[in-house]
This record gives sequence, C-alpha cells and structure tokens, in this order.
Amino acid sequence: MLASFIFFTFMAMAMGSPVPSTIWRPHHRDGSNFFSSLTGTCSLNMSSIPSAANFTSTLPTPTGQRLQYVAVGRGIQNYTCDSSDPTATPAPVGAIAALYNANCVVQNYAYMIDKIPDLLLQFSVNSTKDEILASDSPNLLGHHRFGNSTTAVFDLNTASHEYGEVVAHKADSMKAPNISPAGQSPSANGAVAWLYLLPSAESTADTTSVYRTHTAGGSAPATCEGQKGGTLSVEYAALYWFFKK
Ligand SMILES: *[C@@H]1O[C@H](CO)[C@@H](O)[C@H](O)[C@H]1NC(C)=O
Ligand SMILES: *[C@@H]1O[C@H](CO)[C@@H](O)[C@H](O)[C@H]1NC(C)=O
Ligand SMILES: *[C@@H]1O[C@H](CO)[C@@H](O)[C@H](O)[C@H]1NC(C)=O
Ligand SMILES: *[C@@H]1O[C@H](CO)[C@@H](O)[C@H](O)[C@H]1NC(C)=O
Ligand SMILES: *[C@@H]1O[C@H](CO)[C@@H](O)[C@H](O)[C@H]1NC(C)=O
Repeated sequence: MLASFIFFTFMAMAMGSPVPSTIWRPHHRDGSNFFSSLTGTCSLNMSSIPSAANFTSTLPTPTGQRLQYVAVGRGIQNYTCDSSDPTATPAPVGAIAALYNANCVVQNYAYMIDKIPDLLLQFSVNSTKDEILASDSPNLLGHHRFGNSTTAVFDLNTASHEYGEVVAHKADSMKAPNISPAGQSPSANGAVAWLYLLPSAESTADTTSVYRTHTAGGSAPATCEGQKGGTLSVEYAALYWFFKK
C-alpha cells in the first residue's frame, strides 16, 4: 500500500498535479480496502447508469436526470389464486422488499452490481410482511411495498435517515433477459419484468424516476393448479435505480 502510495504520488508529481484521493486509494489493488469500499457513504450523482453495470434495456433513458441511489431489493412478490379454477393465472397483488444501499458498489465496482440480485437470492429471507418491513441494517436504504395493486411505494425513511417516500406507477416495462436467474427451487418460475416507474404527486422524495432491473426470480407459476388459494409468495431480488433532476 505504501509502495503504491509512493508510486502514485510520484506519478502525480510527474504530471504536475496534487494527488487526487481517488487515485492513490488503491481500491482495485489492496484486498483490505475491498470490503470497506463496499459500504460507507457514496454520493453517486452520475448522469447515467455506468456501462460497466451491464445495463442493456429497451426502457426509456433517464435524460436530464442524475443517479441518486442504487439499491438491491430482496423480498417477495405476492399473487393470489382462485382455488376453484386450476387453469386460472395467479394475479399479482404487490411486493414487499428490503432495499439495501448499493451506491458504493456502483461507484467502486460497477461491473459487479448486476451479479448481486442472483447472489442475494441464494440467502433466504424472513418472508412475512412484518418481518421484511421490520428489517433494519446500517446499509438499509428503505423498504418497498405496494399502496394498492398499481401503486409501488419506496419508503426511504429508516432509523438513520429521512429521504422521503417515492409513490410511483409503472410507465414502461420489458421482459427480463433470458439469462436472468429463474428463482429458487421449487419456485423457479422466471425473473419478473424490468420496469420504469414514474412518481406521482403523493411522493415526498425528490426522486424523478425509478428503474427495476437485473431481476432474479419473483414470477408466479403459469397456472393456479395445485395452489390452495389465498396468497402465494415468491422470493425475488432486483436492482432499483433512483434518479432525480
Ligand atoms: C451533481 O452534479 C451536477 C452536474 O455536475 C451538479 O450541478 C450538482 O451540483 C451535483 N450535485 C451534488 C449534490 O453533488
Ligand atoms: C450483460 O447482460 C446481457 C443481458 O442483459 C447478457 O447477455 C450479457 O452476457 C451480460 N454481460 C456480462 C459481461 O455479464
Ligand atoms: C427471522 O425472524 C425470526 C423471528 O422474528 C428471528 O428470530 C430470526 O433471527 C430471523 N432470521 C433472519 C435471517 O433475519
Ligand atoms: C404477502 O404475503 C405475505 C406472506 O407470505 C404476507 O405476510 C403479506 O401480508 C402479503 N402482502 C400482501 C400485500 O398481500
Ligand atoms: C391506488 O393508489 C393511488 C395512489 O394512492 C391512487 O391514485 C389510485 O386511485 C388508487 N387506485 C385504486 C384502484 O384504488
């Protein structure tokens, strides 16, 4: 570490400039810095999703907006089934997820971010509504739930910060890419769609758009056959990108 500090100091002096802290901090060279650079406070303020994040989508681009937060969402998608009709399609009735702040991963290791939903889906969550909503951690950005069947709520107020609440509606969507993780067995029904959401007047946060991408799992079975009726919960993970003007 000292050697690289000396090296970069030398390089910076040779280039006639003071040492920018982003150069001599050897994020990509020193293992001891790896974990500390995954957490902490990273203010993104980027004008687009970095290409290293492997964001290839047909959703509208966030023109004139800046990246505010990136979160990994981990939770459940709920569906209901009409138990009297085994050929019926499960109907979506919302989702509940904990949102973990991944700003520093995007800032320091953008090329890893698209792998994280798949990774997190390997760990089970406490999957009742109260347990997910009660979850707290220093890295929690907030929680995601539904106000009603068409209204997504991103509550970005936690024990440690008050970023407001984004109340949003689906403005566009695309099928998840074929390579997306299908989900946990025995509910490997496919990855839920990628979404573009726009906030409504009820929002109290300054967010101007939200993307749900890199989904893993979350889809319902094709039919209600074998379901006992009532709520069917399918575990999922995804990335959420919050932009503001
Ligand atoms: C974000 O970047 C824009 C454009 O460079 C700049 O005008 C703005 O002050 C920045 N905001 C923050 C909070 O750094
Ligand atoms: C990027 O994502 C696309 C699908 O969205 C996939 O086909 C491709 O393999 C990914 N590239 C990398 C480097 O992961
Ligand atoms: C799940 O919830 C139970 C009861 O609330 C708690 O004891 C347990 O530690 C939780 N597990 C995880 C992985 O959070
Ligand atoms: C979703 O299902 C879970 C149980 O799996 C339940 O705790 C929660 O209340 C349900 N939420 C909605 C909105 O249906
Ligand atoms: C769902 O909630 C939104 C926002 O609160 C509201 O504008 C809309 O009318 C509601 N829709 C239904 C069907 O209740």
